[in-house]
Amino acid sequence: SYRAAILRFDADRQPVYEADGLLVIGPDANGRQVVQAVGDHAGVARRFPDVPVEDWRGKLIAPGFVDMHVHYPQTDVIGAPADGLLPWLENYTFPHETRFHDAAYARSVADFFFDELQRNGVTTALTFATSHPASVNAAFEAAQARGLRFMTGKVLQDRNSPDGVRDETEQSLIDTETLIQRWHGVDRLGYAITPRFAPTSSPEQLRGAGALAAKYGDVWIQSHVAENHDEVRWVGELFPDASSYLGVYGDAGLLRRRAVYAHCIHLDSGDRALMRESGAAAAVCPTSNLFLGSGFFDFAAADAAGMRYGLASDVGGGTSFSPFKTMLAAYYVGREGQTKPGLSLTPSQLWWQHTAGAADGLGLGGLVGNLLPGYEADFVVLNPQATPLLARKTQQTNSLEELLFALIVLGDERVIERVHTA
Ligand code: GUN
Ligand code: FE
Repeated sequence: SYRAAILRFDADRQPVYEADGLLVIGPDANGRQVVQAVGDHAGVARRFPDVPVEDWRGKLIAPGFVDMHVHYPQTDVIGAPADGLLPWLENYTFPHETRFHDAAYARSVADFFFDELQRNGVTTALTFATSHPASVNAAFEAAQARGLRFMTGKVLQDRNSPDGVRDETEQSLIDTETLIQRWHGVDRLGYAITPRFAPTSSPEQLRGAGALAAKYGDVWIQSHVAENHDEVRWVGELFPDASSYLGVYGDAGLLRRRAVYAHCIHLDSGDRALMRESGAAAAVCPTSNLFLGSGFFDFAAADAAGMRYGLASDVGGGTSFSPFKTMLAAYYVGREGQTKPGLSLTPSQLWWQHTAGAADGLGLGGLVGNLLPGYEADFVVLNPQATPLLARKTQQTNSLEELLFALIVLGDERVIERVHTA
């Protein structure tokens, strides 16, 4: 068990904070480490008088962060200077992704990627691979070796893509099914059917992906939607009969629970209703949207529609693996078009969106993203004194919201003192 300050969330998304808390973990029936008890030190210690206690007073235990959308093969694409999404894909991203047909290269990048997630306190991620099956095997093997809860899949892109990343319709679907059967549900791993986005998949490939999503009902689906104006216009030309960009995915059977759509910026109210009704979730990627100039996610409209959403880095369109940078960027994005007074998003809301909220969006609520009895023991130990400025600042905070805001604004990977995974 661990004695420290502890942050978790209740069913109403409200933060629950113990200044002097105790977290007891132990094996469940399958031998996986799960939370046995959590609460204030005196109360929990009375119920578990014999468990040894590691004393981390002065530190803060919080749920491991959940990244709803990231591209591990774009680890080396961060910061590529391009004039918006489509030139960025054509000039930097597609050429770089061609390298992932090489399994050894893919594994070396995957290992670096998982080390970087760990350094930043991210314990679960829904991740794009590339169109090469070798890139999927490399990521799953690296995640399995680390015991992580992790989802990825082979990118489907059979048109409007250059040689070296373009795949072939029928073979791409055979490869997807083979990878589902090999990896989905093994240890803590899950498969994600991964059409890159509507412009780079034929209608046949999208329909085939939808058929696999129906056949394997608990696999994930991930793609991009409504990120950039030029992209939205292009989809209108390619799919003139669709009701909207999001409607293209609906028509193919790709909108359901465990379907995660990155960006969701240029949606209308009909699209937002479709998101809510289908149970799909948006991955909000603020550092990417600011970097590529894509636009501003409308948090108020998403809330009004009752859409599921959570935060994501979208590296390498995104600029950082750090959840602190992503939460701060989300706060800035929320300022855009803000109509009501006060903060755009409160610090505890931002934190929820990158932990319990993101896990809920992924359909992993009850498993990860929070620290309640029965949850898998994925957590971080944060040092609020990690830098001179943070130490000075956090000593002067008078409330949980002030403490969390100081960490969001000033924090980076130096704050992540330890990461525990179940
Ligand atoms: N749309 C299609 N592919 C991509 C990608 O790799 N990154 C982002 N941000 N958007 C995309
Ligand atoms: Fe992306």
